[in-house]
Amino acid sequence: MNRIRVLVTGASGRLGGILADRLAAGAIVVAGRHRAPVPSGLESVPLDLSSRSSLARAMDLSRPDAIVHCAALADADRCERRPRIAHEINVAASAQLAWISRRSGIRLIAFSTDLVFEGDRAAWTEQDPARPLLIYGLTKRLGEQAVLDEAPDSAVVRVALIHGRGFGRGGTASETILWSLRAGRPVFCFTDQYRTPIDGASVTDAVLRLLRGAQTGLFHVGGPERVSRHDLAMRVARLFDQPARLVRPVKQKASPIGVRRPADVSLVSDRARRELGWESRPLDAGIIESRLSPDPP
Ligand SMILES: NC(=O)c1ccc[n+]([C@@H]2O[C@H](COP(=O)([O-])OP(=O)(O)OC[C@H]3O[C@@H](n4cnc5c(N)ncnc54)[C@H](OP(=O)(O)O)[C@@H]3O)[C@@H](O)[C@H]2O)c1
Repeated sequence: MNRIRVLVTGASGRLGGILADRLAAGAIVVAGRHRAPVPSGLESVPLDLSSRSSLARAMDLSRPDAIVHCAALADADRCERRPRIAHEINVAASAQLAWISRRSGIRLIAFSTDLVFEGDRAAWTEQDPARPLLIYGLTKRLGEQAVLDEAPDSAVVRVALIHGRGFGRGGTASETILWSLRAGRPVFCFTDQYRTPIDGASVTDAVLRLLRGAQTGLFHVGGPERVSRHDLAMRVARLFDQPARLVRPVKQKASPIGVRRPADVSLVSDRARRELGWESRPLDAGIIESRLSPDPP
């Protein structure tokens, strides 16, 4: 690929950071910087998506050929408490970014989530109706629609739970488990909540293929195995030689912890395989790359 300029929003995030870093191997990445640090060595621009003038200035400064939109209010519990901010970032800002992309002829790849599904069965495809249970999922679903309405030539990638190596202080699913186990703290993991976890390198590979191509619309990008949180934690314990007794099984149905998530949002990623020639790496290959501790601030 010619070295195109790619603006990555949310480049300080768990997925956004690792994606920005990895995309830089094949593209000139400009990291959208909000509050937290972005990967070192990358060009960066200040970007607050709640401000139209900040976005316009970031576009002027970065002059991108493409945008990879990772910024979001991605904490489901916080979205429930702050629905207005969730709507502002996940819907309104995404719509504005899409409007600018179309007007400027810039390729847009925007991220969404498996949590747009209600989760009452397994194996969700792009054709299945999305009926989100949470404010987070609802605002991401509205954000998907806004992006595709404003910029029909864009691609929206619904990623599954991110595991493996992340970026910044917040860990990926496998990292937060690993950090607790290494500290000798028990982890309480649902046995009745299923996802298809995916690692950042596999997501980056899908994004690179979308940047090279012109495919539009929804793409599911999930990992090769459908596992519960408890299965994932047991896998982390085994691969990092941590005590399995610290992994405590709990049932979401019987638990009062946080907002209730959908039970099964495992994704079918056949469209990405067929149209992008993409394949996810094995689950263990991602898990083993988890950081042993968070990046220093
Ligand atoms: N992580 C997962 O397991 C997962 C699973 C499914 C889907 N996704 C999706 O993947 C994408 C990336 O997620 P992530 O895990 O990297 O999220 P994250 O770790 O929560 O990071 C969110 C990013 O958005 C930025 N941001 C928040 N408000 C902003 C604003 N007003 N202006 C500009 N930037 C702002 C944050 O910057 P500051 O920190 O500097 O404020 C941060 O870089 C999201 O679309 C998410 O919905 C993630």
